[in-house]
Amino acid sequence: MSSLETTVLVTGGAGFIGSNFLLHSVRRHPRCRFVNLDKLTYAGNLRGLEALSNGDPHVFVRGDVADATTLDDVFERYRPSIVVHFAAESHVDRSILGPADFVRTNIEGTFQLLEACRRHFPRGEGLFHHVSTDEVFGSLGETGAFHEGTPYDPSSPYSASKAASDHLVRAYHRTYGLPIKITNCSNNYGPRQFPEKLVPLMIMNALEGRELPIYGEGKNVRDWLYVDDHCDAIWAVIERGRVGETYVIGGRAERRNVEVVELVARLVAEETGVAPETILERRRFVADRPGHDHRYAIDPSKIERELGWRPRESFVSGMKKTVRWYLENEAWVDEVRTGEYRRWIEANYGRRGGEAA
Ligand code: NAD
Ligand code: TYD
Repeated sequence: MSSLETTVLVTGGAGFIGSNFLLHSVRRHPRCRFVNLDKLTYAGNLRGLEALSNGDPHVFVRGDVADATTLDDVFERYRPSIVVHFAAESHVDRSILGPADFVRTNIEGTFQLLEACRRHFPRGEGLFHHVSTDEVFGSLGETGAFHEGTPYDPSSPYSASKAASDHLVRAYHRTYGLPIKITNCSNNYGPRQFPEKLVPLMIMNALEGRELPIYGEGKNVRDWLYVDDHCDAIWAVIERGRVGETYVIGGRAERRNVEVVELVARLVAEETGVAPETILERRRFVADRPGHDHRYAIDPSKIERELGWRPRESFVSGMKKTVRWYLENEAWVDEVRTGEYRRWIEANYGRRGGEAA
């Protein structure tokens, strides 16, 4: 018999935040078994999880959150009492080019997972922790910040699909009494992020001598949070947050995109000995994203006050760690750039792979 007391089902655990969450959690929560259910889309990369072997306390199952049979198999076999739902299509630009996968995974997938919790959790027990984004609130002007009561006003198919999933999660609490918690976090950065997002794209392009594409005039503002600080916040909410509540999470680190790109360029220059100007002169202002939200900002007073959570990293210390990780993990970077990580996944995990549910 295993001495592990709690089974946590982590969906999307091969993605950027999910993989960081698993690495973070296995060390700090030795009494938990983590079942990682991931479909392994282009964004799922198990190479980042090689430090965890497949078998207690981390069990990998390849599967789709929108598939009810897979979910029944996983719930019957592992009997999780906590679900942390990361699995999603997550890139705004992809959602503009092809929204269908976003509707299927983010809305239908969340619906199927909620239904599975309703079928398998004893009534009023268990926990569904929904990991969501500040993008559901739409765009801010020059002042103000999102808080738990901000009305939803999503702009992209991505944020609209996440908004729909948040509404479903809340409705399952009010209607069926399912114990849920929701977190809406600002932009994350850190190790293992796929280079279609701003920070890893700029780091990899700066390292490889490529152009640095900045949408529009680069004046859009995001609030940035180091991924481990997000993971800490999720655990604070799981352990001490109130059931049925929402917590917004942010780093009090608002930056315009041009400032982010400049910091990345300077840090890469510092680490590699290349002159910063050589990197900075490759900035290119390119066509803007349609419906590009101008500004996101978070007022994290509730999670700070109620749960005592604070980020450990400043924007500069977190970015330094991130740039170093990309420099020290050339193999990961090369495999992502060449697509080799996909061949490795198919060779090792096949169409379903992992512990078949
Ligand atoms: P990601 O795109 O890096 O990873 C998503 C993971 O989900 C991948 O491993 C992918 O294979 C998996 N997946 C996709 N469809 C699936 C399906 N149908 N069934 C099972 N697995 C599936 O995303 P991320 O950046 O790690 O984001 C994780 C979650 O956090 C998302 O819900 C996102 O909305 C939310 N979030 C992200 C950020 C951010 O800045 N990245 C900020 C706030 C909230
Ligand atoms: P992104 O990392 O895609 O996150 P999100 O759209 O979820 O905020 O983009 C962050 C910001 O950077 C956003 O304002 C768009 C901008 N951006 C660029 O200017 N150039 C790029 O190549 C990318 C990918 C994003």
